Amino acid sequence: MTMIELMPNKNRGAAVDTSAYSFAATEPIRNLHTSLDVYKETPLIKLNFPNIGTVYVKDESQRFGLKAFKGLGGVWAIYKVISDELGLNNPPLEEIFKHRAELAAMTFITTTDGNHGKGVSWAAGLFGCKSYVYMPKGTVEVRAQAIRDAGSATVTITDMNYDDCVKYTARLAREKHWHLIQDTSWTSYEEIPAQIILGYTTLAYEALWQMKYQRPTHIFLQAGVGSMAGAIAAVFAEVFKNNPPRVTIVEPTEVACFYETIRISDGEIHSATGNGQTMMAGLNCATPCELAWKILRRYAADAATISDDVAADAMKVLAEHKIISGESGCAGFALANAARNSPELRRELEIDEDAIIFVINTEGDTDPDNYEKILQ
Ligand SMILES: Cc1ncc(COP(=O)(O)O)c(C=O)c1O
Repeated sequence: MTMIELMPNKNRGAAVDTSAYSFAATEPIRNLHTSLDVYKETPLIKLNFPNIGTVYVKDESQRFGLKAFKGLGGVWAIYKVISDELGLNNPPLEEIFKHRAELAAMTFITTTDGNHGKGVSWAAGLFGCKSYVYMPKGTVEVRAQAIRDAGSATVTITDMNYDDCVKYTARLAREKHWHLIQDTSWTSYEEIPAQIILGYTTLAYEALWQMKYQRPTHIFLQAGVGSMAGAIAAVFAEVFKNNPPRVTIVEPTEVACFYETIRISDGEIHSATGNGQTMMAGLNCATPCELAWKILRRYAADAATISDDVAADAMKVLAEHKIISGESGCAGFALANAARNSPELRRELEIDEDAIIFVINTEGDTDPDNYEKILQ
């Protein structure tokens, strides 16, 4: 059944210090990304639709050849850990590669529902380091294999849910003195996720450059733990300080932790209450990242939930425009797409024909079988 629900954020308003996300502060991150052999700016596609105006789609489906944006955060965080271990400050890659033996002795570990693990496996492999990636129960084998193929990782599909799997890898990292590269934060674990979040800023600055710094009126950002949404919201809040675009967080109906957190609105984060069943695997995370929430609780106007069929419709529309978009990749666009034919949704989201909506296609066909099935 088609379902879209919107929850307005009562805590929106007070400014947060986003100076760490400024163009100048994030320059070393872009320097790393652009120095990689596989670096290529990803496309920004401008679409126009009746009723909702312009939609800019930043298409991350080809980022680093990994089919998703996530490697941006993983490679930056791993580079930072390696640089710290070697006692170097933002070194060029050639400098790092001189330390082969030290690199071979480093091991990275993470939990993932797919794309983040691929980024970690790839980045660890790039530097000649070992990596271990653990995945929650229900993960399709094709996603595990894609992680092995991307780089150095030994991959295990566990019988744990995502949150338990994160706890398990955190414990393993402590016991074995491995580096945990997790893309979500909690009270005692902030340093690495903060770097991962910063790693995503490259895509926002590429997009701003491609839009010639035109201010979008709306940004629809899909969230799993919200690290990506927090990063992008922070960049746009920093750049358009006096008038930040209206941000909506988009989640699957059955795994909507930001929706739940905004609904309860007591200043704490809250876990999703749904049944956890969604084809949007990358968004199947039940607990918000605390660092991301600190940003989003001020800048998000609302949180929207979408059912799987709303995402499937969006995948088809994007395919008509020659954009390959996976189940989680299309979710931001899915909200815009649904608003095309819903005056009520347009009213709630304050959209009209003059709107300029920015969305990110965060992945390509990371589950090719399901992609084919949906497009048939
Ligand atoms: C394709 C895709 N889009 C969006 C997200 C959401 O990112 P975050 O967990 O930072 O909210 C993920 C997370 O894995 C993802 O794989």
